[in-house]
Amino acid sequence: MRAAVINTPDATPVWADFPDPQQQPNQAPLKLVGAGLHHVVRALASARHYGSDQAYPLVPGLDAVARTDDGRLVYTGLPQSPWGTMAEWLVTPFEVELPAGADPLAVAAGMNPATSGWMPLITHRKEMGELDTVLVLGATGTSGSLAVRAALSLGAQRVIAAGRDRQALARLHDLGAVTIPLSVSGPDAWATDLSAAVAAAQPTLVLDFVWGPVAEATFAALGGAGTDDDSAMIDYVQIGSLAGTDAVLPAALLRSRRIRISGSGTGSVSKARMIAELPGIIARFADGTFDAPYTVYPLSRIGEAWAHQGRTRAVVVPD
Ligand SMILES: NC(=O)c1ccc[n+]([C@@H]2O[C@H](COP(=O)([O-])OP(=O)(O)OC[C@H]3O[C@@H](n4cnc5c(N)ncnc54)[C@H](OP(=O)(O)O)[C@@H]3O)[C@@H](O)[C@H]2O)c1
Repeated sequence: MRAAVINTPDATPVWADFPDPQQQPNQAPLKLVGAGLHHVVRALASARHYGSDQAYPLVPGLDAVARTDDGRLVYTGLPQSPWGTMAEWLVTPFEVELPAGADPLAVAAGMNPATSGWMPLITHRKEMGELDTVLVLGATGTSGSLAVRAALSLGAQRVIAAGRDRQALARLHDLGAVTIPLSVSGPDAWATDLSAAVAAAQPTLVLDFVWGPVAEATFAALGGAGTDDDSAMIDYVQIGSLAGTDAVLPAALLRSRRIRISGSGTGSVSKARMIAELPGIIARFADGTFDAPYTVYPLSRIGEAWAHQGRTRAVVVPD
């Protein structure tokens, strides 16, 4: 079959022949409709992600919308390495049928980003019984903006969206979020930017898509003062690290606040739990709660797709 193929960790994928995926008994291969080029796809392919098994050559791609041999459109993913979803044919361990009204390419672009915020939101809501104030760091990106939409649709009392992109923040404000524009002058001002919002309503759930200096500024803003008992519990969930892979965690924050810091991603969230949530997430693409802007590239132009930047997600489709 034809596929996007990566031969070494540093190489750009090329459109090339690749062996067909190994067929499973009683399961016809799926035909690609569209596969999203997410950050994790690039990171896995270039061996920068902890989940990379570094076996080359490989086909990149984690998830996709595909067509079954009886004509149904399904969301699917998690193919067995070295096969990925950026190929004409896919063999995968799960399929979730798309409901009527869902744009297949928006689903391809948006399901991985949407799932990243959805999982900690529903986990927290189940544990605490409700969603109170949710702070989203990196809210202006695809994943963060879908997390804001998810929090609002799941009944959060208040959603605070922090990021640098003013236009993206204005769109989130229109949806009902309180917005914190992070100063373009850089990290030194971010703790001040965040402090006022945290003082007005202390978040009980923080979804962090960026880490690095944004996390450090948030730790400073969340730090307690005085010796009174702290009442509310803060659940801080690490999801992405585009602003930095490390962050300094002040000891005083852990002592002054009832705070739990954890992460959400492959390995810490079970595949079975994630797959169980997929129909509820896809339904929100069908009813218009979720959307994900995308730019389409045919598989033969995978090199251009790989270099794609900007506010839309690249989606690779068959030629
Ligand atoms: N764990 C999971 O399950 C999971 C799943 C999906 C995604 N993720 C991760 O989540 C992260 C965000 O993904 P995405 O899909 O939202 O990406 P995206 O659409 O490219 O958005 C990037 C976001 O990161 C922010 N950002 C980038 N560099 C920054 C910096 N130096 N300082 C401050 N903010 C910065 C951008 O903010 P501005 O608007 O201010 O530029 C924007 O909000 C990625 O690391 C991705 O791998 C994790």
